Amino acid sequence: MSVIIALANQKGGVGKTTSTIELAACFTNRGYKTLVVDLEQQMDTTKYCGGDPFKSGCYKVLKEEMDIKDAIQETDEFDLLPATPELSKADDEFTKPTDVLKLKKALQGIEDDYDFVVIDTNPGRNRLLNMAYIASDYVIIPTDADDGSVSGIISIFDDLKEYKDAGWTDSDVMGIILTRYENTSMHRYQEEVIRELIEVKQPDAFFMTVRKAIAASECKTERTSLQKGKRNSKPAIDYRNIADEIIERLTEED
Ligand SMILES: Nc1ncnc2c1ncn2[C@@H]1O[C@H](COP(=O)(O)OP(=O)(O)O)[C@@H](O)[C@H]1O
Ligand SMILES: [Mg+2]
Repeated sequence: MSVIIALANQKGGVGKTTSTIELAACFTNRGYKTLVVDLEQQMDTTKYCGGDPFKSGCYKVLKEEMDIKDAIQETDEFDLLPATPELSKADDEFTKPTDVLKLKKALQGIEDDYDFVVIDTNPGRNRLLNMAYIASDYVIIPTDADDGSVSGIISIFDDLKEYKDAGWTDSDVMGIILTRYENTSMHRYQEEVIRELIEVKQPDAFFMTVRKAIAASECKTERTSLQKGKRNSKPAIDYRNIADEIIERLTEED
């Protein structure tokens, strides 16, 4: 059975794509078979991993026009279910209430093939994000230190609670990652605010930081993960610590 983790935040530019790629690379390097699902219509993850969005992708899988096993592509570091441009039509296409179960159903077709499935989601509260919440076992929230960030995090907790109460999912927030972290008063303040929020909303969730470094954008240009391209950079080390924390938590649960 795979563990399905969605990286979610309705805000853009907070490190969802970077976190998806880094955690997937770390899981692979620790010996776990890992699939990345790019559910984001901008297709950043697909691009940065060298996937081909014109060959196959999750849209056709969600439309049940293609078997998930046929849509998965191999990349240098892990397997990928690519995003495709048609994902932008998702809100108009998947309008039935039960459509939110489509990703969950599709992933059941590969649950014995992977240890981890890591889902990159789109900014904005749309149907694709709901599908990811419902398909996942855990949600991890990457966030920045902006003023409005906390209200976005609260709405993720609230949306998940709503789906749990409705019986759609058992997914929980496993943790929050403050990305592009710098040792400034703004970041330290935001850290405190998030830690307090965790105490209120979900005391067993982790809070971890990923330090800011230019290596993160350099690796994107080079189409590689930090784990492969800049292994000793600060964010690469921080993501390894987060992946190990996740693995440890899951092992303790077994
Ligand atoms: N630790 C980091 N240090 C420096 N830049 C980072 C770091 N993490 C992400 N970035 C950069 O921040 C931008 C937004 O990150 P990204 O992962 O694309 O966010 P999202 O997927 O939420 O839109 C990208 O340009 C990325 O290269
Ligand atoms: Mg992204």
